Amino acid sequence: MQIDYMEIANELEKHINLLVLEERKSHVYGVLDFCKRLAKRYALSEDKLAVMALAHDLFRDTPSNKLSKMANCYGIEISELFAKRPILIHGLVSSAYLKRRFGIEDEDILLGVAYHTSGHPDFGALGKALVLADSLELTRVYDKVNQLREIAFYDLDIAYVEVIRNKIDYAVNHNLYLLPETVNTWNKLMEGEKI
Ligand SMILES: [Fe+2]
Ligand SMILES: [Fe+2]
Repeated sequence: MQIDYMEIANELEKHINLLVLEERKSHVYGVLDFCKRLAKRYALSEDKLAVMALAHDLFRDTPSNKLSKMANCYGIEISELFAKRPILIHGLVSSAYLKRRFGIEDEDILLGVAYHTSGHPDFGALGKALVLADSLELTRVYDKVNQLREIAFYDLDIAYVEVIRNKIDYAVNHNLYLLPETVNTWNKLMEGEKI
């Protein structure tokens, strides 16, 4: 089946109006805008990235009990960590939704949306671009964000390493839990040849 990503993007915008809180919409559209710029810079599919940007936080404002129910329905395994903090499954639920509701099978899209918070060792260019956009879109304010934005348009792989490094730094410095996928991503990146 031929997938019309622009049509899906239009449909997702309607979903956003129903499901995403007003104060989060500027972030979602910031991610969309940043994704478009990255798509141009790295010759990636603008349409696929638009779908990823619009879908990534679709269930971020969904109440925990409902998120857990959706995860169950989609056969997503609820680890102990997810059971304690159901908000962490919003990406996985969005990814499953894209597959079931719109028939999207593209693994780079599904994996990218599922693990946009943590990163994932198997990300392709689209997943990396979504992680960058999620962390660097223009409403984000934190130390180093401008420096990271510059790197984002210099080299996608280097920028991905730096954003993952920043996530780890932040978690360690603020006594926060490190997601296993972030650790696995870091270890995989450190095996790579480009760094
Ligand atoms: Fe998110
Ligand atoms: Fe986000």
